[in-house]
Amino acid sequence: MTAKNSLQAIVLAAGTSSRFKSETPKLLFTLCGQEMLLYPLKALQQLSIPITLVIGHRKELIKRFVEQHQFEALSFVEQKQQLGTGHAVAATMPTWYADSILVMNGDIPLITPQLIQELIQQHEKSHAAVSFIIAHNSDPSSASGYGRVVTHDSHISIVEMRDFNDNPSVYPFVNAGVYVLQKDFLRRHINSLKTHENSREIYLPDLIEIASKQGLPVTTVTAVFDHIRGINTLKELWIAEQIKRAEIIEHWMFQGVRFTYAQSTHIDIDVKIGEGTCIESGVQLLAGTRIGRQCHIGSYSSIKASVLAPHVTIKNHSIISNATIGESAQVGPFAYIHNNTNISAEAVVGFCVEVSKSSLEQKAKVKHLSYIGNGQIGPRVTIGAGTVFCNYDGKNKHTTSVEHDAFIGSNTSLIAPVTVGHHAITAAGSTITQDVPPHALAIARTRQENKDGYAHKIRGSVPVAGAVKMEE
Ligand code: UD1
Ligand code: CA
Repeated sequence: MTAKNSLQAIVLAAGTSSRFKSETPKLLFTLCGQEMLLYPLKALQQLSIPITLVIGHRKELIKRFVEQHQFEALSFVEQKQQLGTGHAVAATMPTWYADSILVMNGDIPLITPQLIQELIQQHEKSHAAVSFIIAHNSDPSSASGYGRVVTHDSHISIVEMRDFNDNPSVYPFVNAGVYVLQKDFLRRHINSLKTHENSREIYLPDLIEIASKQGLPVTTVTAVFDHIRGINTLKELWIAEQIKRAEIIEHWMFQGVRFTYAQSTHIDIDVKIGEGTCIESGVQLLAGTRIGRQCHIGSYSSIKASVLAPHVTIKNHSIISNATIGESAQVGPFAYIHNNTNISAEAVVGFCVEVSKSSLEQKAKVKHLSYIGNGQIGPRVTIGAGTVFCNYDGKNKHTTSVEHDAFIGSNTSLIAPVTVGHHAITAAGSTITQDVPPHALAIARTRQENKDGYAHKIRGSVPVAGAVKMEE
């Protein structure tokens, strides 16, 4: 095998995911924000190896998903019935053109390009008929789904767990489900594999025994077990995700990110974080997020598909999704910023404030208990506590604009569409239905009337609970 074009890959993704007990195929479940199937596909793409993806169970769903990702050299083959891994590879025979065929289970997301590369090199060096990856795992409980590597009279074979009656500590290696095979060997033997009675399946690893019994060279590469974990159940997905998550957090620690309680933090695989940023306990940084330098992310906040500039502070329990936040802005606690919102530099969004599809310009402030929907808020605007942007009339959403340096008194309702001009003021408690000119004061509330002695009169005649209590 001299060049990359003498190697092609087959990835098996046709299985029924029966052990997941889910309508969605297991390979579309995410692990640290990325669908499981993308891990092996991206590893192969990184090595520039063309891929044939075998699909079957829920094939349309998997095909549509993979097509969205525009892999350079990827084609699909259908396995019409799911009769085992040997049967899945047989279905790809018309696509074989390379001298060596790399076959890989689709459900081993922690595999690395380095490990695949090592296997290819080993295969090349040894001129083996079959080369495959193995890992040490003598624990029968945690390795129950794996085929065991069994050697007998200098023959090597894989015995699936359901047929394995020996002590796992005698045969402590398991089959990873990643193989490189000579095309000619594969062509000669793939159709001679037998169906196993107890599972009614045709097993690809049976080719290893065939090669071995024919005296053909069979070689292995030993990997760390964590890198080849197969995901057959939700529990195995959970374990693999913990491993990946720890890897990601470790990576960011080495980039100068401080985690106050790392074991409670979740970070998706594509997230980026700047140096000197501090991330407190229970934080989730989800797919599509970029955090700048020297930011502070408070406990139990969740940030998804958002970009934070340097020096941003997010206080505890805030939820941010599809938003951009400018340099030195402050958000939270308990803020909800979402739906294409842009918060500019040095703006402040405080306690229990929701901001949706809005923009806040530089140094604008909304500090307490407000709803800002479809709002355009100019620089240095102050929005008082309890302000509501009434943006929805039951059919359509309308925009509220508050121009620069305006002041919105507490508990103002702004009924959109409406504009408050620059430097204008609305009196607290106003319901603003008309535009307010620049520099004007808008008061839109009923005038207060005080009736002397009325409180006593009401208490005397109306038996309200509070009044009774006062008399006791
Ligand atoms: C397989 C190996 C086992 C190995 C383990 C490593 C076989 C018989 N056993 O077991 O030796 O230790 O992987 O994780 O190969 N698939 C198809 N078509 C089918 C059946 C499966 O495309 O008809 C696909 C699945 O979608 C999956 C992969 O092949 O991505 C492996 O199948 P799975 O049923 O998970 O095999 P294991 O029981 O894990
Ligand atoms: Ca598996």
